[in-house]
Amino acid sequence: MGYPDVRPRRLRRTSAMRRLVAETSLEPRHLVLPMFVREGATQPRPIPSMPGVVQHTMESLRKAALDAVEAGVGGLMLFAIPARKDAVGSGGVDPKGPLNAAIREVIAEVGDSTVVMADLCLDEFTDHGHCGVLAPDGSVDNDATLEVYGRMAVAQAEAGVHVVGTSGMMDGQVGAARQALDAGGHTDVAILAYAVKYASAFFGPFRDAVESSLTGDRKTYQQDFANAYEALRETALDVEEGADMVMVKPAMSYLDVVARVRDMVDVPVAAYQISGEYAMIQAAAERGWIDLDRAVLESLTSIRRAGADIVLTYWAVDVAQRLRAAR
Ligand code: PBG
Repeated sequence: MGYPDVRPRRLRRTSAMRRLVAETSLEPRHLVLPMFVREGATQPRPIPSMPGVVQHTMESLRKAALDAVEAGVGGLMLFAIPARKDAVGSGGVDPKGPLNAAIREVIAEVGDSTVVMADLCLDEFTDHGHCGVLAPDGSVDNDATLEVYGRMAVAQAEAGVHVVGTSGMMDGQVGAARQALDAGGHTDVAILAYAVKYASAFFGPFRDAVESSLTGDRKTYQQDFANAYEALRETALDVEEGADMVMVKPAMSYLDVVARVRDMVDVPVAAYQISGEYAMIQAAAERGWIDLDRAVLESLTSIRRAGADIVLTYWAVDVAQRLRAAR
């Protein structure tokens, strides 16, 4: 049977009808807000390439975390910018370092009312800007980095984090983090594995956000954007190593990968709408070329439609508030 007996437009006639038949939902609980804190900052600092996003002070971080909880977001993902960086990223492991301090502050503020996650990676803390420690020849030393990640995982767990986000794209990092956490008695801390992470131009504004000194690229450890089977292999390895959740990143240029990963695994799948995706939509909207609210909702719904259970987005709080008001 086809037209004129079948008329798909019948189900699009009113907003009530469209709401009734919508296949994909977007709720505040699906959203995770990434947040930046800068060690020693006395005032929140705007990040020029991410209008509306700031490097927080400890105090403004606590307040923003509370606002996010009130908006009903599913979780927070913490990043920190240390006052001093060094070759081995000591600030990431130091229990008094800014990320571990931020975890303590945020946990003290929000407790278990949302899920507090932290970035488990060295690039914010190293003076060369790479995600791991370097070998004498300048390459990123996978196995030496795993040892540091293990200590960093334990430090974050001791600070009270609920979830560590292994984002450095070292081979074996999920297993190393799990082993270190368990050995330290932190069997309850979950791992969100950035299983699939592409060497992407869309990370650009993040480098501003964390004042990265990286020259060159991350192509020897992050994935080639030409590949999708490789993403499935990375995901399978991470699940086998004990990942409780897996993530695909960036999101919008990789919706096919989100869908394939969702079909393959039986753990929750997250996708990260990253800094450049945020900046791109924000910039076009500032010029009046697209409608911000509509574009944001469409982009997030499409990431959910592709199969992401959880979406990390810098718009998490605005969207959560908007979704609540619309009910
Ligand atoms: C690694 C990390 C990065 C992002 C999240 N975790 C940077 C990178 O891998 O290059 C990027 C997030 C974004 O661009 O919004 N610490």
